[in-house]
Amino acid sequence: MSRYKKIRAALLGAGTVGGGVYKLLKMRKEEMPFKVQAELEITKVLVRDISRKREGIPEEVLTDDWNSILEDPEIQIVIELMGGIEPARTRILEALEAGKHVVTANKDLMAAAERHHCDLQFEAAVAGGIPIIRPLKECLAGNEITEVMGIVNGTTNYILTRMTEDGMDFAEALKKAQELGFAEADPTSDIKGLDAGRKMAILASIAFHSRVTFSDVDVKGITKITAKDIQYAKEFGYTLKLLGVARNTDGEMEVGVFPMMIPSGHPLAHVKDAFNAVFVHGDAVDDAMFQGKGAGELPTASAVMGDIIAVARNMQYDCCGRIGCSCYKDLPMKSSGESRHRYFLRLIVEDRTGILAGVAGVLGNNNVSINQVIQKPAVDGVAELVVITDKVENRHLKDALMIFGEMSMIQEVASVIRVYSPR
Ligand code: NAP
Ligand code: HSE
Repeated sequence: MSRYKKIRAALLGAGTVGGGVYKLLKMRKEEMPFKVQAELEITKVLVRDISRKREGIPEEVLTDDWNSILEDPEIQIVIELMGGIEPARTRILEALEAGKHVVTANKDLMAAAERHHCDLQFEAAVAGGIPIIRPLKECLAGNEITEVMGIVNGTTNYILTRMTEDGMDFAEALKKAQELGFAEADPTSDIKGLDAGRKMAILASIAFHSRVTFSDVDVKGITKITAKDIQYAKEFGYTLKLLGVARNTDGEMEVGVFPMMIPSGHPLAHVKDAFNAVFVHGDAVDDAMFQGKGAGELPTASAVMGDIIAVARNMQYDCCGRIGCSCYKDLPMKSSGESRHRYFLRLIVEDRTGILAGVAGVLGNNNVSINQVIQKPAVDGVAELVVITDKVENRHLKDALMIFGEMSMIQEVASVIRVYSPR
């Protein structure tokens, strides 16, 4: 008989990440006693369809009966990898209520651990395999963090990379991302920026010690990005990325996710495919960057495994629930109208004299200063005017865009995309 104690766990979900975690645990089985002074065993795996074969997972551990897990006193850790709000939320709360520790990769369900003196670990919920939650909560705890910025969605980064480098169209690139297991079950949350928005809410809450909910995040996805925008970005020396930006300026927070043109020499422009990267600025550490695979089977399983090992170690030393919610401040959100950014505008206009002066006049009258402007040759009496602005207040740009909407010489405001500017 083994001299090591056994820690038993249940997996909820055996999809991309659940399957990866099962596989990784098997790969590390022999080493586990040295890492956590215990043997770790997955005794049950909850799925919807138990009749379906799961590669590498024995049939006898599969179950569709949650109560058989909840009521099993030997199962001490529940690893939630089903995704979605319900029933994942209820399962997590019930598990915590029953004194079980929880590891999850689910971005929507980050509450309720402290009350139960159990661990609720969620490293994989943000940026897949990249360690960022624990570094923020522990290693960087001595800093006043003022900025967290980065690429936190693998699917959209993969799509934009394929569109930029291979000229793939949006639908084809999305299909590939789904096949590779990066996309959420419903990819709308990836492409509309919601997944990145949830991750930025989590990162901002931890970084600024103030609760930021998803509804506080200004979110724009990549569904309207066209090959033309990508081509113009290149012409101006930029690369198009979906960026999450969270800033704490003089005690006011601003959190958003936007397609953004960043200088092609910027380190984030080189983060390609499903890779993610997160920049953190703290008053003591200065700039720190974390980069790695933000999605996929084993990279995500790596983060989940790290959490499982942390819980097992805490259990051995009886110190679970050590680091709970770190929101001890209540900073306000900055009003989005006052927020200042640079913009790329693509206008479809009539090809006649006076258009450029008309457009420049509207922008000038609304305090929107122009940095660069290019007029593309006309085709069939229609021309394209591309403008890059200086830093302007959102509300001023909004006013100018409203006037453009009423001008007959402007057929369409085809794109409004943020352009990177340093803090
Ligand atoms: P997935 O491939 O769709 O797998 C989901 C699994 O959960 C399936 O095995 C499914 O069972 C099971 N499941 C779903 N609803 C269930 C229910 N009501 N009862 C029992 N089982 C249920 O999802 P995934 O990509 O592995 O993602 C899992 C979680 O990890 C999500 O929260 C996701 O946001 C997060 N995450 C994913 C990645 C990634 O790269 N994929 C990265 C970071 C975080 P059946 O197989 O029987 O349908
Ligand atoms: N769908 C997510 C992504 C998975 O593409 O980044 C990781 O959370």
